[in-house]
Amino acid sequence: MTAKPIALQKLPVDLEQSRLPQHVAVIMDGNGRWAKRRGKPRIMGHQRGVDSLKDLLRCCKDWGVPALTAYAFSTENWGRPMEEVQFLMTLFERVLQRELNEMMAEDVRIRFVGNLSALPQSLQKQIEKSMKDTENNSSIQFTVATNYGGREEIIQACRAIASLVKEGSLQPEEINEAIFENHLYTQGIIHPDLLIRTSGEMRLSNFLLWQMAYAEIYVTQTLWPDFDRGEFHKALLAYQQRERRFGKV
Ligand code: FPP
Repeated sequence: MTAKPIALQKLPVDLEQSRLPQHVAVIMDGNGRWAKRRGKPRIMGHQRGVDSLKDLLRCCKDWGVPALTAYAFSTENWGRPMEEVQFLMTLFERVLQRELNEMMAEDVRIRFVGNLSALPQSLQKQIEKSMKDTENNSSIQFTVATNYGGREEIIQACRAIASLVKEGSLQPEEINEAIFENHLYTQGIIHPDLLIRTSGEMRLSNFLLWQMAYAEIYVTQTLWPDFDRGEFHKALLAYQQRERRFGKV
């Protein structure tokens, strides 16, 4: 990771430590446009996007945000040109291989959520290894949504719960939010407080539909490869100005 000036490593003075989000989710949009504006192939944008993600992870750790989730590949992204999909799968695998030592050194716990069984075998192996190796790390929880779709996640949870009811180990009236959450991919991960989406689109795009019921949404026009600590600072300032009422007055 590139060295940052000391001032950017510390929590900016205009942010309150006690009111930081405990979990930030990010939709990393605009990689393709970033590359196109420079006359480069779209994949260059994804490559630069990895640098933005690494720096955001480091920044969350430096500033005291204990959980970050990134939307790396949606169930809809299979519809992209085959070369781009293949590039992304290879990129995920390469990045995981390359960064595992650093994640260990930085005490990062990585988890993947999504329908992982549909990913290339070699990527699945690398995912398993990185999750296992980092499972006792605790400085920051980093979750990567890969082949993830919020609706699909909800349906697979319903199926699992329906099976329990069918076999008689659960009564329908016993089903509650806690039981439901235990069957989501994100089991054990707290809900995001803040969703950041880059490149101006104001949609959830099937991301963490259940988990983001009360998330604050921050949309910036900045394209993902240009999203840096200064941009994250702005998002956190906006978040701290919000009044979170969770449906109360
Ligand atoms: C959206 O931009 C971006 C993606 C679908 C891929 C994001 C993936 C990374 C940054 C790599 C992360 C790597 C690891 C290992 C977690 P877009 O292509 O939709 O951009 P556009 O809207 O401008 O076309």
